[in-house]
Amino acid sequence: MRRVVYNWKGGVGKSTIVCNLAAIATQEGKRVLLEDLDPQGNSTHYLLGYTRSALIASERCLIPFDCDAFSRQALYTLLQQVREIISDHNPQLEVDGIVANQFQPRARLPRQLLEEMLAEELPVLETKLSSSIKIRESHQHCKPLVFMDPQHKMTLEFRNLYHELQSN
Ligand SMILES: Nc1ncnc2c1ncn2[C@@H]1O[C@H](COP(=O)(O)OP(=O)(O)OP(=O)(O)O)[C@@H](O)[C@H]1O
Ligand SMILES: [Mg+2]
Repeated sequence: MRRVVYNWKGGVGKSTIVCNLAAIATQEGKRVLLEDLDPQGNSTHYLLGYTRSALIASERCLIPFDCDAFSRQALYTLLQQVREIISDHNPQLEVDGIVANQFQPRARLPRQLLEEMLAEELPVLETKLSSSIKIRESHQHCKPLVFMDPQHKMTLEFRNLYHELQSN
């Protein structure tokens, strides 16, 4: 399975999600090749060559979303780009869905954003990823959180995400 985790917005959690999903995949006995194609600061509405190539070469596309109103606007363009790639270049590409990252269930705004997105039939995934300082610690130790702290709340969330993606 070739999967691309795609969002041109910086800092939405692409690398964090990829590392943890890849770590779970290895625990499940899968062989994993991970490539981070997205350098810092790639925050333009511009589909760079290597990102485009990754989408053309992939079977699935997962879109992290940081529950921010600006990012929501960008999602429409982003989904449109993915649809264009599907129709022009890669009919086997499927959108896994949108995964909310740094989601705060008790805050009104992010909850409302996701409700509105669901009402518009955007493919928001069931699993939500919360926020934890442990993510930064895990980067500092160069170790995915799922390895560093197997019982952590976010480890369980990453596992739920992994299984939700497998069952789709
Ligand atoms: N769920 C989370 N809880 C706490 N911190 C998080 C979470 N997700 C991401 N972060 C932090 O946010 C920052 C950006 O995350 P990350 O590097 O994964 O994003 P990215 O989309 O890959 O960014 P870039 O576009 O710059 O490559 C990092 O400092 C990371 O530690
Ligand atoms: Mg990154």
